[in-house]
Amino acid sequence: MVTKTREDLPPVTEETVLNEANACLTDRPLDTKPLAEERAFAFWQKDVPEGYWRLDGPALKVRIAEARAKLGTRCVVLGHHYQREDIIQFADYKGDSFNLARWAAERPEAEFIVFCGVHFMAESAAILSQPHQKVVLPNMSAGCSMADMADPEDAYACWDELQEAGIRKVVPVTYMNSAAALKAFCGRNGGIVCTSSNAPKVYDWAFERGGKVLFFPDQHLGRNTGVKKGIGLDEMAVWDYTLPYGSLGGNTLEQLERAKVILWKGHCSVHSRFSVSQIEKARREHPGVQVIVHPECLMEVVQAADMDGSTEFISKTITNAPPGSIWAVGTEINLVSRLARENPDKTVFCLDPVVCPCATMFRIHPAYLAWALDELAAGRIVNRVVVDAETARYARIALERMLAVR
Ligand code: 13P
Ligand code: SF4
Repeated sequence: MVTKTREDLPPVTEETVLNEANACLTDRPLDTKPLAEERAFAFWQKDVPEGYWRLDGPALKVRIAEARAKLGTRCVVLGHHYQREDIIQFADYKGDSFNLARWAAERPEAEFIVFCGVHFMAESAAILSQPHQKVVLPNMSAGCSMADMADPEDAYACWDELQEAGIRKVVPVTYMNSAAALKAFCGRNGGIVCTSSNAPKVYDWAFERGGKVLFFPDQHLGRNTGVKKGIGLDEMAVWDYTLPYGSLGGNTLEQLERAKVILWKGHCSVHSRFSVSQIEKARREHPGVQVIVHPECLMEVVQAADMDGSTEFISKTITNAPPGSIWAVGTEINLVSRLARENPDKTVFCLDPVVCPCATMFRIHPAYLAWALDELAAGRIVNRVVVDAETARYARIALERMLAVR
């Protein structure tokens, strides 16, 4: 059986993400249909045997439970908060990207780590786990359109251009949502990785070491973090990676010299949907509502909200809130729906009236999980996420710096 690696697959474009998200919307958006009926199937990993295509949710549940019982403690399943319900119920640990990375770094017991999330998360787990551990991603096409906006080659070109222009003492910082090669670039050049839960502290770390931060790939998290650190908007430049070499990313030399933060022009197509008018509407219609959003949202949205933070922060804040409280949430719908269900004593709803799942997170269908686990139980490893030794060495440096920043 030939299993594709992520490199064999086309990058996840914003168009694919939105098309797939729209496909998920048509009927009963968050229920699991058999693989063959999920309309985005065509984009997905096609080498899963036909026997899995028509199994429905309950049948898959049985399959997964059986494989898990055979594997016992040799296998652990990690799940990101955005995973659909029919996946997250099998997760031994669920969390945000920081906690899942920390988990992978600290638990050498399991031989197999089956990562239900997106590719950059599984890659980070592969880098941080021990050599005897094998990380499996049930669907190799579960990428992230934001991560794909920062092609490492474009990042190297940007770095060279900055050096040639005499812009020095730049500390490269990449958000976890990026390829291992970009993390390695940061590790090699005195930089670091951050997640949405420690970005302000990572900025402190970086400014202790250099005068400027070059922040990949999410301009919104980078800008929101800059604002939290008291950096003015006129001290943040945006680097447009689509412009040809020599264009200084669309900036003048003076703008780059003045900038404390240079923001890569990437974004998340899920979080960019939230708007200030949605917040205003929620406040009008639900007096006393508290608005909580992810920092990948636009700056205006984060500023209009009452609070912002990682998926773990959102989850804990709502879970620990007093009964009767009302929450409008600006993040991915699978997490919002779960919080609404798990907190029946509170009102929890999504800011965006149009349900928009993260289509790539949604690509982890239970049929793929069943297939990956069945194969492991039969002594075969499919979809192993491997990072070459040189990339892993430097990416690990940047990731370990991140884990050390508390
Ligand atoms: P968290 O680190 O907050 O889990 O976010 C990951 C992510 O991809 C959000 O879009
Ligand atoms: Fe990537 Fe956005 Fe999905 Fe997070 S929600 S994995 S940033 S596309």
